[in-house]
Amino acid sequence: MLSRLIALVAVGAGLVTAASSGCPVFDADMNLYVLGGASDYVFGAQDAWSSASAKTLSAAGKRPPFNGSKAPRCYLSQFNNAIYVLGADSANPTGIYILNVATKTWSLQAVDAAGIDTTDQVEILDHDTNVFYALSKGGFWFVNFHDQKDAISSALAWTDMGTKPAFDTSGYKATMGIASNHVHMFGTPGSQPGEASIFVIHYAFPQAQLQLYPSVGGKSNFPVAHGQAPSLFRDGPEQTVIAFIPDDGSATYLVDTKANKTLPLAGPTDKSSSIFTASTSAVVQLTATGKIFFLPVDQADIAGTAANSGAAWKTLATLPGASTTTPTSGNTTSTTGTPRPGTSSSSSGSGSTDSTGDESQSGTGSDDGTGSAGRLTTSAVLAFFAFFVALF
Ligand SMILES: *[C@@H]1O[C@H](CO)[C@@H](O)[C@H](O)[C@H]1NC(C)=O
Ligand SMILES: *[C@@H]1O[C@H](CO)[C@@H](O)[C@H](O)[C@H]1NC(C)=O
Ligand SMILES: *[C@@H]1O[C@H](CO)[C@@H](O)[C@H](O)[C@H]1NC(C)=O
Repeated sequence: MLSRLIALVAVGAGLVTAASSGCPVFDADMNLYVLGGASDYVFGAQDAWSSASAKTLSAAGKRPPFNGSKAPRCYLSQFNNAIYVLGADSANPTGIYILNVATKTWSLQAVDAAGIDTTDQVEILDHDTNVFYALSKGGFWFVNFHDQKDAISSALAWTDMGTKPAFDTSGYKATMGIASNHVHMFGTPGSQPGEASIFVIHYAFPQAQLQLYPSVGGKSNFPVAHGQAPSLFRDGPEQTVIAFIPDDGSATYLVDTKANKTLPLAGPTDKSSSIFTASTSAVVQLTATGKIFFLPVDQADIAGTAANSGAAWKTLATLPGASTTTPTSGNTTSTTGTPRPGTSSSSSGSGSTDSTGDESQSGTGSDDGTGSAGRLTTSAVLAFFAFFVALF
């Protein structure tokens, strides 16, 4: 009995760690990674996902401890084939870890907060300039990563741009996506469904008028709500399409910022707390229980209905060590941000016997998390954890 109790406590403690670490993210060749927890995993490219299995990523250097209080955020720097990880070290909340994909080496870039509030910061990585833009304390900030594939010895620093959004930010938990060299903010106060608030990067200019992306076929458009907004990548140039998934998981909206159209598609079938990211041809979901799903997307004709009609979420894989049980309650209604997946006992995985899964999140950002991908909310994670505690 005592040993059983100890085992349960150990599992519970592991969950806390797992639940606060990890993010899904792609490299420049569109191989999927889940970074965080005890091990990082690679799932390969989309043409291999029908029988995907997790391969442990073996990398040298200074791997993040993945022990932040919220989910880490992973971003692909496509031109540099580097992955930047924020919020992955509780002892260094501003430091940004870099995975050099080609050399498989981790390093830690020192970054001075210089006044930014890492607890309310929501950032996004601009594709073309490789500059992070953040909303914090009601205004815009930036830090330039130039062409970094590895950390440099001098510290970088966040810079206050002295510019504020064109709306009242009080109470606004940012959901940010990048496209057409514009930061798109969703769910902003005063907006209507289908409208985004825009920050024009090259002129550091918060556009006063909202941008409307009418819904294809006149279907209901994306709601004024918090969510996650990973941008799809392209083979080289600027990103133009954002996938917006509201926290309730009710739909997936593909926002084509060139055609000025929104295509509403099915929401993820698994509505539990999740982190989303995107490649050139898929939106990927990592749930808090370590399940991975994807929605295939054809970017060639987002505004047309043919290419993506019938697009459906499919199972991709489950993280090694992830639980096979399904939490009945976790969902993504959070007000803040990002989800993180956790995992539980080691009973089922397909991987090695002692790894216990983990989780993830990525990208682009929304909310407190985003990077490029989504994230779950703290409340959802706590609910998830409470669920397991209740089980015990
Ligand atoms: C997180 O990891 C860092 C680096 O290893 C360590 O200094 C810090 O104490 C850890 N924080 C927690 C809460 O374990
Ligand atoms: C989309 O909207 C922007 C801003 O209103 C406009 O400049 C652009 O020409 C529009 N594009 C199309 C294809 O209508
Ligand atoms: C998610 O949880 C919230 C709060 O418990 C609840 O109000 C909402 O109906 C739930 N949504 C779904 C889709 O289960």
